[in-house]
Amino acid sequence: MSSFSNQVVIVTGAASGLGLVIAHKILNEGAYVGLFDINEKALREHFVDHEKYEELIGLDLTVESEVEAAVTRIVERFGKIDVLINCAGITGATNLKSHEVSTENLQKVFNINFMSSFYTAKAVLPHMLANNYGRILHIASIAGKEGNAGMLAYSASKAAVIGMTKVQGKEYAETGITVNALAPAVIQTPLVDAMPETQVKYMTDKIPMKRTGTLEEAANMAAFIVSPECSFTTGFTFDLSGGRATY
Ligand SMILES: NC(=O)c1ccc[n+]([C@@H]2O[C@H](COP(=O)([O-])OP(=O)(O)OC[C@H]3O[C@@H](n4cnc5c(N)ncnc54)[C@H](O)[C@@H]3O)[C@@H](O)[C@H]2O)c1
Repeated sequence: MSSFSNQVVIVTGAASGLGLVIAHKILNEGAYVGLFDINEKALREHFVDHEKYEELIGLDLTVESEVEAAVTRIVERFGKIDVLINCAGITGATNLKSHEVSTENLQKVFNINFMSSFYTAKAVLPHMLANNYGRILHIASIAGKEGNAGMLAYSASKAAVIGMTKVQGKEYAETGITVNALAPAVIQTPLVDAMPETQVKYMTDKIPMKRTGTLEEAANMAAFIVSPECSFTTGFTFDLSGGRATY
């Protein structure tokens, strides 16, 4: 028996980067997985051969009714929800000072990075409460702890995710449900590839290990945080920053 046998796990942002690798790891460890992403074509390309264990759902996570319908579909097919891992996210425009930030872009970043994590958690929590068990992991960022210059929308939206994690951790502490966050520094994914080189250099130069994190390192830590073994930690933001955050 591997650690996720017979568990039902939802991974958002599963078509790319961290979500893609985390979803594959958890599938390989025996879980039934709901794979949520706006890029349904990429989901279909990346997830083949495990139909019995996979439910692929193309949706816009910023639309609450779409999130509710997708969560209902997972419960109807697999019967419960044990784990939610929120990986969907965008940086929005970067390498800008705050007076140059467009309000519209900032709102878009908040809708994807914060509101979508609120909607998914809100939709799965009643199902977790019914079973007295659950693991929720929000992928935040070191930017949310420290504030990356040039990245107001992203940093503030991730700080909001960290704040939500602290609240939810306390609210459900006596229910068998844990809610934690993960704060990576730089992991080479399409999200980072799309950023200006100077912005990526600014972030990577701050990492004491002088390298970026690997997708495998991110997936291993995420899998531990949502495992049954990680049972006495909630409301916490785990570090994945090569030594950048020492708090
Ligand atoms: N890569 C890094 O260095 C890094 C560092 C810190 C935090 N993070 C966070 O980790 C998470 C994953 O990042 P990544 O690097 O894997 O990014 P990525 O761009 O590779 O993947 C993000 C996925 O989210 C999906 N998505 C975006 N908007 C959506 C929407 N409205 N509805 C549904 N799906 C949507 C995209 O289609 C994509 O598949 C993000 O929250 C990101 O902020 C990444």
